Amino acid sequence: MAPPLIRKSAPKASLTKTHAGDDFRLPGVLEFVSKLMAPEQDALRSIRENTVKDGLPPISVGADEGKILDLLVRVCGAKKAVEVGTLAGYSGAWIARALPAGGRLHTFEFSPKHAEVARRNFQRAGVADKVTVHVGPARETLPTIEGDGPFDFVFIDADKVSYVHYMRWAAAHTRPGALVVADNAYLFGKLHLEPSKAGEDAPAVPSMRETLTLMTDTKVFLSCAMLPTGQGMAVAVRR
Ligand code: SAH
Ligand code: DHB
Ligand code: MG
Repeated sequence: MAPPLIRKSAPKASLTKTHAGDDFRLPGVLEFVSKLMAPEQDALRSIRENTVKDGLPPISVGADEGKILDLLVRVCGAKKAVEVGTLAGYSGAWIARALPAGGRLHTFEFSPKHAEVARRNFQRAGVADKVTVHVGPARETLPTIEGDGPFDFVFIDADKVSYVHYMRWAAAHTRPGALVVADNAYLFGKLHLEPSKAGEDAPAVPSMRETLTLMTDTKVFLSCAMLPTGQGMAVAVRR
């Protein structure tokens, strides 16, 4: 007998699940996929593993998200990339590795201590020649690179209250076809809440919502989608 076309267990579709309704992002499956698709170069793994020893918080993207950044950088043929929020340089190393020879990543970090750790990590990862670390509040330091624009790729991963400012900057300084990417777009599960219910993330709720609204403005971006990583990674392509 021919196998049935639809599994007996297939549940109903919903807005948040796949069309077939299932969500197979199970721990064992995710671990299998990470090992297959996002193996970390030794230098990258040691950045992540040393972040806490270096006295920095363990809030970098994970290896799967690093590999997504690699894919996105290559998809848009980026030569000139910008990152807001360097931390120890983990995501920056993934981005820089994906750039061609002669490419440049400008990465922006508020904390001089984080920037120093990141510079050392970029050296160890063999990408220091492609990366410039800018120290200070990004609202003040982003304008210093505007003469090098327009940019091909912008990754926003710093203070969430300023995301809308960074996204407006990205819209103004990218070329058609550029990709803009916003990490933590689910705002730690608070995106949909009234600010009064969002605790310490309250000030960031309007900023994150305005960021996503701008990314879905078809006068500015051709297409926008949420990559449903654990934290939510919003991606849009510049019109
Ligand atoms: N992208 C990194 C993680 C960044 S964590 C990775 O995945 O590896 C967020 C970083 O943004 C922290 O290092 C924090 O110091 C920095 N940051 C916070 N406010 C900032 C500001 N106003 N300007 C620049 N960087 C800022
Ligand atoms: C936090 C910040 C991040 O950029 C992130 O990816 C995860 C957590 C935080 O501030 O807790
Ligand atoms: Mg983040």
